[in-house]
Order: sequence, then C-alpha cells, then structure tokens
Amino acid sequence: MTRPIDVAMVADRPDKAFLRGRWIDLVVGSEGGSDDRPLYVTMCGAEGHEIRMLQEAGVLETSENGAISDSSQVVAVEANAQAVLALQRQYPGLRILEEDFSSILSGPGIEAWPRKKEWKAVCAADIINLDFQGPLTAGLGDSDLIFRDLQLVFKLLHFHRVAGVESWRLFLTFCARITWDDATCEAVARYLRDNFEFSEAFKEACRLSCGEAVVDVVESGSSVAISELGEEDVQRLLMMVVPKKISRLAVEDGWSVRTEWNSRYGHGASGDRMPMVSWGFEFRRDQAASTEPHRAYATALNGVFEQVEELLDTGEVVAG
Ligand SMILES: C[S@@+](CC[C@H](N)C(=O)[O-])C[C@H]1O[C@@H](n2cnc3c(N)ncnc32)[C@H](O)[C@@H]1O
Repeated sequence: MTRPIDVAMVADRPDKAFLRGRWIDLVVGSEGGSDDRPLYVTMCGAEGHEIRMLQEAGVLETSENGAISDSSQVVAVEANAQAVLALQRQYPGLRILEEDFSSILSGPGIEAWPRKKEWKAVCAADIINLDFQGPLTAGLGDSDLIFRDLQLVFKLLHFHRVAGVESWRLFLTFCARITWDDATCEAVARYLRDNFEFSEAFKEACRLSCGEAVVDVVESGSSVAISELGEEDVQRLLMMVVPKKISRLAVEDGWSVRTEWNSRYGHGASGDRMPMVSWGFEFRRDQAASTEPHRAYATALNGVFEQVEELLDTGEVVAG
C-alpha cells in the first residue's frame, strides 16, 4: 500500500525540491567524507530523489549496468520495509540500513553506544539529514522537559566529538504540528521565557522574526493559548524552540553552532500536504564553548534568525 508520505514525495513539490537542491549543493560542495566515515547519511524515502540527484551530480558513480558502483560515501537509513524495497529496486548497489535511526543510535540515552562499527561511522558522517515527516515529540520525564528527537541530535554531536570530527552539518525537518499535552506545552513556554530572560536580544529577534502573537503566547505560558495557535504560528514557535535547544545542546558538548537556515513551508496546504519546518546547522569544534559557554551560547542564539524564511509552493523563497 502506498503511504501518504510517498505520494507527497512522488509529487516532487517546488518548495521541497528547493530544499533538496540546497541539501545536495552542500553535499556536492563538501570536502568531507573519508575511508572510515560516510559523506552523507540521509532518510531519503522510497522515491530517493536525493540519490538520483547525487548520481546526476557525480557524487554517486553508476556503472554501465545501472548499479551504484561505490557505495561507501552515501548511506540511506529507512525504517519502512516497503520503502527499502522500492529503493533497492530503483537504486541497485545503494547502501541502505533498514533500521530506525533511533535504534542505530541505541536510543536517546547518552550512556548507550551504537552496537555496530558501521553504525558508529554512520553516526559520525559529515552531513546527516534527519528528514522526519512526523512532529517534534516532547514530554516531561522526571519533571524535565525532554525533546526525544533532539536528544538523538545530542548523541550525534557526542559521537562526532568522540570520532575526532572538527566540523559537520545536520539537516533537520519536522511536521509543524503540536501534539504535546498541557503540562508539556506549559513547560515549553517556561523554557522559552527563561531564554527571553537570559537574552533580551533573543527575545527581540523572536518578536521581529516570529511576530508579537507567538511571543505573547509564550509569555502568557498558557497551554490553551499554545494549543490554539494557528498553523503559521505553530511553525514560528518551532522556529524558536528547535534551533534554540540545538544551540544549547551543541555548546554543552563543546561545539559552536550556526543555524544556516530556519525555514517553514507547506503552510495553508490541503490534502496530503502538511505544514513543515526545516533547518540546516553547521557545527564546529570550539574551545570557547567550554571556556566561555555563556558567550558561545549567546552567539549561537544571536544567529538563530539570521536566515529565517518561508519556502512558497511556487519554489520561491521569501523572508519569514
Ligand atoms: C519525509 S520522508 C523522506 C523524504 C526525502 N528526504 C525527500 O527529500 O524526498 C522520510 C522517510 O524516512 C523514513 N523515516 C521516518 N522516520 C524514520 C526513522 N526514525 N528512522 C528511519 N527512517 C525513518 C520514512 O519511512 C520516510 O520514508
């Protein structure tokens, strides 16, 4: 049975195509990749547009019989068995890990390591693309606010550090729907308010880039107000929360972080389309993150809205 996500990806919509083009340009332009670590690890979906684009760009060499001849540099991670079959049919020779990304990482807990040598290498790739179609999950564990998907990013940071990587990139995408319970909504608002207090500049940037309405809802701390946010404001809320949290996690692990783009798309869409949010992050090992963590964090926060944008369904890109 064809999944809605596959129908959406077959449609190759201009906003998503723009994003894909941006990803692939960065992969093509990257000097990275080595014998022991892949260049690009991606959840490319059943259709595998990115794989086709990498073949066209010459990053993935294809032999005369149509099979990918060097499968060391690009790895597809796919949890769905049908999607794996489709990929294998369309791209023979492609290296595919039929796993949930979370299992490759041995879950969100920092004490557990990837079980296989190959998985460790995958977790330290030069560019990792977590193109989730689902929403950002959040919950209160032992009263701490936990974003499970972002804990996985923390582990990726950690594995890159242990592997001695000096810089790497993460592409991250979620559906912009809030599925959190009331207590979690209130905790997210408290979390952002705390950051508004830490950095007046961040609060002002949130106001300018995301609008008064969302900042006011955060300041009210009301779960009802959060659950009643309109589609665009949910996108904007996530555009504050996610890069903010990633900045914190990165600095904690000794990295400087640059939010290369902070994007939303799919707003107002109907049918099988969903409102989405998407980011590009560049991480660099940085001693200042451990010697001057407040300054490093403030710098990261200042950059969160450097490139805030909407990808229109025509493929155009506009501010906001
Ligand atoms: C949004 S689609 C990928 C679209 C693709 N990047 C593109 O540009 O056309 C996400 C794919 O990743 C798979 N997926 C989602 N969550 C996953 C996870 N946690 N681990 C592995 N695969 C996952 C889904 O089954 C789906 O095929």
